[in-house]
Amino acid sequence: MYRIKSQINTHEKSYRENAAAYRAIIETYRERLRQVMQGGPPKAVKLHKERGKLLARERIDLLIDPNTPFLELSPHAAWGMYDNQFPSAGIVTGIGVIHGRETVIVANDATVKGGTYVKETIKKHVRAQEIAMQNHLPVVYMVDSGGVFLPEQANVFPDRFDFGRFFYNQARMSAMGLPQIAIVMGSCTAGGAYVPAMCDETIIVRNQGTIFIGGPPLVKAATGEEVTAEELGGAVVHTTVSGVADHLADNDHHAIQICRNIFESLPKPERQVLDMAHAEEPYYDPEELYGLAPIDFRKPVDSREIIARMVDGSRFHEFKANYAPTLVTGFARIMGFPVGILANNGVFFPETSLKGAHFIELCGARKVPIIFLQNITGFIVGKEYEHRGIARDGAKLVHAVANARVPMFTVIFGGSFGAGNYAMAGRAYDPRLLFMWPAAKISVMGGEQAASVLIQVKEEQLRNAGKALSESEREALRTSILEKYETEGSAWYSTARLWDDGIIDPVETRRILAMGIAMSLNRRFEDPAYGVFRM
Ligand code: COA
Repeated sequence: MYRIKSQINTHEKSYRENAAAYRAIIETYRERLRQVMQGGPPKAVKLHKERGKLLARERIDLLIDPNTPFLELSPHAAWGMYDNQFPSAGIVTGIGVIHGRETVIVANDATVKGGTYVKETIKKHVRAQEIAMQNHLPVVYMVDSGGVFLPEQANVFPDRFDFGRFFYNQARMSAMGLPQIAIVMGSCTAGGAYVPAMCDETIIVRNQGTIFIGGPPLVKAATGEEVTAEELGGAVVHTTVSGVADHLADNDHHAIQICRNIFESLPKPERQVLDMAHAEEPYYDPEELYGLAPIDFRKPVDSREIIARMVDGSRFHEFKANYAPTLVTGFARIMGFPVGILANNGVFFPETSLKGAHFIELCGARKVPIIFLQNITGFIVGKEYEHRGIARDGAKLVHAVANARVPMFTVIFGGSFGAGNYAMAGRAYDPRLLFMWPAAKISVMGGEQAASVLIQVKEEQLRNAGKALSESEREALRTSILEKYETEGSAWYSTARLWDDGIIDPVETRRILAMGIAMSLNRRFEDPAYGVFRM
């Protein structure tokens, strides 16, 4: 494979300005990461430790194999919501390796409002289970939660993907043969009691873990019976009387050790075999991505320059290099794994869609994972293109993406606007993981475009009523729409609401993608199967 020849001059003013601005953005990102990693308020953290308990992330560190990374997902969930009282939405989820096996870990953070669930906590929990199902991974639940955050019950209890979905998923995952282990390290109240009860094996910590459908206050109110939490559903009760739990642990450390021992005897899955090569660092330094990553979306960036700083040896075998140049397609390796890459280099034309669909077919036929690098304003508009049938050709690409049976991974490095988001494996297309760079943006269209559409609609309405917008009214409308799109289109708004699996540092992208690909090998890739492509 040939090495990409970079055209970037790192001494140029615009490169240096971009790099400085991006480093400032990364500093904010890191600062916000530090903030959420602290968990709940200092008082709650202190109390938690005084009770002899480890923090959620400390528990995970001990659970996974020494010196292996933990791919934490959506650490900034609920960012900027609920007065920032739910850092990481009160739950830590991600993928770690236990006895050599990629595993989904779901750990409640009891320092955040008693580990209770708001909407984003639920979305994180369900998303973690989805990842386990898509990739055939075992799951460990480290339970320490007061259940539903009661003031938010209408947003967390009744709907299809709300609290009840946890247990439905657990039953389905069990039927799929996915091992699920619970470690009860604190409360497990009401519906939450089903988390351990539905697992294959459950460990509970003495004088610390409790499992009950109704806690002591509820029992007293309902029946008048007075009982302590320990008598009602403590560790000794459940491992000697009820049998709801299987292993009694003396403390967090002991419980985690028991869980690791369970993993030693789990059956090994049949893994997908890929043609591997030795991992190699990119020839061009990934740190140079700071000078290239889009901040001002009006400045075009050649996505080959991004690819060059992400793939092994900066080598890229480009497919159809001279045809439909607004989509760059080709094969490369990331940390030794073979990948097919689709990267935007401008708007979609009819032929761009055909090139993309063809390339996805190649990846499916060759069983190669696909990476989508999104920086897309959308599909070209206008009479010429409608007449050429852009909707029909765009539909072919959407068909190919929706039915690609190989694992797909999406990174939004610039803009993700309109139908371009769909064509490039946006969230609705079930990529195995989807990440955003911190200055990336996502919305149905850009703010400027939305403002001009809405102003035109308003003016048309007023014209029909014999009125007109004054200059100041037009400007006020424009400003309010721009502000709204600026806020709602930001990566922070997206990540808070779980539209992605997290914001990542551009430099970390290749390492994170490699972890994702390794995870996806726990399930054999299926043969391609497409429906009707409209010709
Ligand atoms: N809904 C809303 N808020 C809750 C809550 C719930 N279910 N459970 C706890 N909280 C809040 C508390 O009000 C407190 O908020 P504050 O920090 O603003 O004062 C915070 O979470 C911590 O609770 P606290 O009781 O002080 O901490 P703890 O570590 O001693 O106990 C629990 C944690 C979860 C064991 C305990 O709060 C509890 O039993 N909660 C009720 C659980 C329940 O019955 N849930 C049923 C849901 S279906």
